[in-house]
Amino acid sequence: MELIDKNYFNGRVDNEQVLLFTLKNKKGMTCQITNFGARIVSLFVSDKNGVFEDIVLGYDSLKEYVSTDELYFGAAIGRYGNRIANGKFSIEGKEYQLAKNNGNHNLHGGNKGFHNVVWKANQIKNNRLELTYFSKDGEEGFPGNLQVKLMYSVLENNTLEIKYEALTDKVTLVNLTHHSYFNLRGIRHNTTIEKHLLTINASTYTPIDEEGIPTGELLSVSDTPFDFTKQKPIGKDIDSLDTQISFGNGYDHNFVLDKNNLKIAARVEEPISGRTLEVFTDEPGIQFYSFNHIKGMHKGKNNIEFFPKSAFCLETQHFPNSPNQPNFPSVVLQPEQKYTSYCGYKFDVTR
Ligand code: GAL
Repeated sequence: MELIDKNYFNGRVDNEQVLLFTLKNKKGMTCQITNFGARIVSLFVSDKNGVFEDIVLGYDSLKEYVSTDELYFGAAIGRYGNRIANGKFSIEGKEYQLAKNNGNHNLHGGNKGFHNVVWKANQIKNNRLELTYFSKDGEEGFPGNLQVKLMYSVLENNTLEIKYEALTDKVTLVNLTHHSYFNLRGIRHNTTIEKHLLTINASTYTPIDEEGIPTGELLSVSDTPFDFTKQKPIGKDIDSLDTQISFGNGYDHNFVLDKNNLKIAARVEEPISGRTLEVFTDEPGIQFYSFNHIKGMHKGKNNIEFFPKSAFCLETQHFPNSPNQPNFPSVVLQPEQKYTSYCGYKFDVTR
């Protein structure tokens, strides 16, 4: 297990101290996290032969995260994960305008969001890191001072657990998620994710327009490339001529989860390594992104290349553009409420 060198993360951004933290369980599962963007930098998980490999994309220095990352590698995403159409929304009759950082739209909370800010970190145990961030009233255009708490834990059952909490002093929007790019084969093998077998516990999804904004409908997945109700290789329909696939340039869609009570949302199995991933959440949706928007080859940590379809994201969330879709579950947080959200990435091997 070749861990990322902490020295390359020891630095200052916006005059705040940045460090790299290492979380570990007794079985050897290891996760490195920087408080710059609360980003997961590496995640070492055993394969069926007991070999630990890094299964998430990233860079090996703070400098690269600060200067080159437009991809949200491993980041905490907020105040609003995914897109808000035209960067506009209204709360209690007042209109708010956010940055248009994705064509005409707002994506992942804006230019700095929560992914390019320094969080306060407190390593509570060998396997647990608490991160907090105070987002000021008006920051990135959102109303209300928002106090955010994020708890990462590497549990003994090989779950990477992410728990979110937030409190506001004015009515606002909150939709937090996590943006790791996984390749369960191990990133050093330079393979695509097309042979990974995916199941998503969703019989409907939210179709999008050409700019990635949901139309507002919930469509059945049956007889479409979006049917992952039974295990299917990710690559099977990824190049289909389906209009929705062409709008996403592959998969870049929100799936509406059938069960919303911490049941399993999705499962991925990689046949060669035998690694499996199960995603648990209490959120109503999950964005499945097959890493379609980059072109060509790029170099990440340890000079390992990444390229289209070399990883996938499964982002637990409320639906994209919910503030402008009254029929979608609400993302409004009132001052007297506490926002909470749970995401568990549980790893195992096939036997
Ligand atoms: C995803 C989003 C994609 C793409 C990606 C970052 O969450 O759905 O459209 O923007 O983030 O490159």
